[in-house]
Order: sequence, then structure tokens, then C-alpha cells
Amino acid sequence: MTHPETDVLVLGSGIAGLSTALGAAREGASVTVATKATQPKGASTWWAQGGIAVARKAPRQFKEDIHTASSGTSDPEALDVLVQNADAAVRDVLIDTLGVGFDTGGDGASFHYGREAAHSEDRILHVDASTGRHIHEPFLNYLAAHDRVEIRGDTAAIDLLAQNGTIHGALLKSGDAVQRLHAGATVLATGGIGALYGRSTNPAGATGDGIAMAHRAGAATADMEFVQFHPTVCVVDGDPFLVSEAVRGEGAVLRNAEGDRFMPAVHEDAELAPRDVVARAVEQAHERTGRVVLDVSSFDFAGTFPDLAAMCAEHGVDPSTGIPVVPAEHFLCGGVDVDTYGRASLDRLYAVGECARTGVHGANRLASTSLLEGLVWGLRAGTDAQGAAPREQPVPVSTTAAGSPPSDEALRGAFECLQRTMDVHVGLRRTPDGLQQARHDIRSVEADVKAWTDPSARRGVHELRSACTVARLIAEAAAANETSVGCHYMERSDAPPAS
Ligand code: SIN
Repeated sequence: MTHPETDVLVLGSGIAGLSTALGAAREGASVTVATKATQPKGASTWWAQGGIAVARKAPRQFKEDIHTASSGTSDPEALDVLVQNADAAVRDVLIDTLGVGFDTGGDGASFHYGREAAHSEDRILHVDASTGRHIHEPFLNYLAAHDRVEIRGDTAAIDLLAQNGTIHGALLKSGDAVQRLHAGATVLATGGIGALYGRSTNPAGATGDGIAMAHRAGAATADMEFVQFHPTVCVVDGDPFLVSEAVRGEGAVLRNAEGDRFMPAVHEDAELAPRDVVARAVEQAHERTGRVVLDVSSFDFAGTFPDLAAMCAEHGVDPSTGIPVVPAEHFLCGGVDVDTYGRASLDRLYAVGECARTGVHGANRLASTSLLEGLVWGLRAGTDAQGAAPREQPVPVSTTAAGSPPSDEALRGAFECLQRTMDVHVGLRRTPDGLQQARHDIRSVEADVKAWTDPSARRGVHELRSACTVARLIAEAAAANETSVGCHYMERSDAPPAS
């Protein structure tokens, strides 16, 4: 019996997945990229604002900044890999291959390097404050024209094809059609988990599918409690948009409803303190005074950040009176546990980008290192993954039919229930009692979803199934770690409310 196959199957189409595809295709492999996205905006990469950090001439300083932002928990070997490969990968792929036009300085010849929180020097290549889309669109176009790469949009992976500890591809769903795609190697590049929370900077499809599929197949995950919240997200009528850290790098300050600047009393680096510190302080100032704004009056906001000024205008926000901000879920530092080539704990399975835990970020990620991590690990995984032949015999998949499908209302209600418990109990500040309650709530949603799930179930059911699995992994990891570090902050349940 024949069945479709590819040398390397990449699940996801952000910078990590596309870099994997490029790395593998350059080695001569056939590559299939399967992605839920129907347009570039469906990948988090498109939304990235600040930019991509490089080492320039000070790799040691770059490493120290990443390590310090992680509260000393990042992995030294992973850091070496990131920093040693950073500048060459950016030059090779982004500049020479894709021709990304990073902003230049006043002379128009050399790059302009931006600064963001917890960076000790200017090292961030950017295009205005909308760097992601300027990388993502040319990357997609380049690979779409590549004769060894096929990109399948609107195609969700719903399970891995696992047999005896080896991964042989994935079960893909496009519309109502379900197909087994066998692969010599399978690379998860499915991005983040923003949809688990009520407020996130991620696209709506960020349901943690890759992590959930890997976990179900028996792969190890790590650092799942380290969920990063971005401190400055503006929400208008329920629609959140990120206000890049580059704005604080340029001199914007945070003020509470009384007009007071509160960050200098919290950390010596004030608004440029590590992201977890700023996010908690913003949340507390919001709770205490009812409003926090980003005061951009010290510089020419519209001239420096025209894209962000346009976004404010689109949302009816007048920056001259301060941009109202709250923290929102932004990035998962943990994920599928991988080595320096993106190899997971199961044979022929890789993970790259946000769904992977490489060890670079430890308990908290330094700004503008996620695109870089996706690029560096993607290239390495793609190069390493090619070469294994797809399995000849089809891997059996379960076809047990589920009960009756949920109504749209029931599905939405279950998703909102999951988000509510994550917001309340598994957010910026956690307590043992809250985490216990969250685990109870998640298990109850999971029980409903289990009864709804079989391969024929609609995509929303599979996404909720992934979201529940990942939510449970986060809540369990958080409950198991009593030490506050980086993004994981444990309050005593009996502590008085923050003043
Ligand atoms: C930002 O522009 O503030 C986000 C950058 C990042 O998350 O690395």
C-alpha cells in the first residue's frame, strides 16, 4: 500500500519552521510544511515588533544579558549555541538570502541597532517596530518558490504517528479530510500558547498543539511553568495590541492612575528591568489605582515608531495622553525538551521555536531573542533532520468514534472556562490553592473534550484538546515548583493583598 510521504515534515510556519525547511531543503531533502495558518498573520512571527538581537562584537555581554534576564537559569551550552551562531545566521538567511531591509542609521549605510529592556547595549536589528512581518513574508515567498518545499496552508496536525518510541510523521486535517503523512523526521514548530489565556499577544490559533501532541506521544517537556507576560499591551474593545519594549528603550515611562512613575521604586533599571518584574509591577499598579499608561511624551513617538502610531490611531488611542497598558500572555519559555539540534526525547522527533524548550531562556526570556532562537535552532534542526527515510509500512491510527459533537456554544463555553481558570490561577502571580483549583477546573474541561474527540472532530475540538493538555502541564509544573523564579512567581495563599 502506498501512502504520501516526505523526508522532513515541518508542523508550523513561523520563523522556526521556515528556517527548518530551509535548512533541510538546502541539504537536498524534500520538505512539507503543514500549517494551520491561512495567511501570514496566523503565525506569531508576523506579529513580532521589537526585532532580532545579534551579538555584534560583544558575544560575552550578550550571553550575560540573557543569563541575567533568566535569573541565572539559562543553559550555558544552549546559550553558546545561540550566541555563536547569531550573527552568521542573520547575515546568511535574513540579509543575504531574503534581503530583509533592516533599518539603517543616519548614514544610511550601517544598521541601526535598537535597545530593549535588560539589554546592556544596543544590539537589536529591526524594521521600524514591525520587524516580524518584514521577515516572515519574504521567507514564505522564498520557500513557496523552492522546488523541494511544499507549503500546505489551512492544514492542522492532530496527532503524531508514533510507534515504539519513534515518530513517523503526523495525522493531518484539512477541511474534513484526514490524512496520514509519513516522514523521515517530524519537526514541531507550532508556536505558542496564547489562546490558553483571555488576553495574549499571540494569534488566536496559538493553542500549543505541538507540545500537546508530543506529550501524548510520550516526549518529555520541561520548564512549563515559565509563561512570560508582556508588560505593555493595549486593549481596546477586547482587541489587544502589543506596544513594543523598544518604546521603553527609547525613553517611555510607566505611570499609574495618579500620574506617578512607579518603576524606579521597584527595580534599579526602572522601566528597563527584566520583563517579569515590569509585568508584575504593572499588574499591581493597575489593581491598586485602576489604570497604567505608557507616557511617550519625552520623544517624538510618531516619528520614531510610525507603525505603532498608526496602530494607536486605528484603535482610537491618543498617545499624547498616555497609552493605556496591561500585561498579557506573550511567550512560553518552556516546551518540548530538546538538545542543541532541536532533537526531542523520541526518535525522529524535533521541536523548534516557541514550542521547544532549548534552555536558552530558562525562567524568563530576554526581549528580541525569540526570532533568533527560532532561526538558529530551525537551521540546525533542518540540517540534522534530513537523511532518514520515511517508514514504508503505514503506522496504525485509532479510529474509535467519539460521542456526539459539541455545539458551538458548548465548545466556546469550555474554552472560556479554561481561559478563566488560567487567567485567575495560573497568571503572573500564583498560589498553591489557586493552582490546585486550576488543575481541578482543567481536568473537568478535559473530560468533556475527551468525549468529543476523534479524528473527524472539527478543528476547534482538537485545539481545545491541545489547550487543555498544555494548561494541565503548566499548572502541574507550577504546582511542583515552590520557588519563585523568573516568570514563575508564587505568593503565599494567606498573604495580604498587594499594596
Ligand atoms: C517587544 O517588541 O516588546 C517584544 C519583543 C520580544 O518579545 O522579544
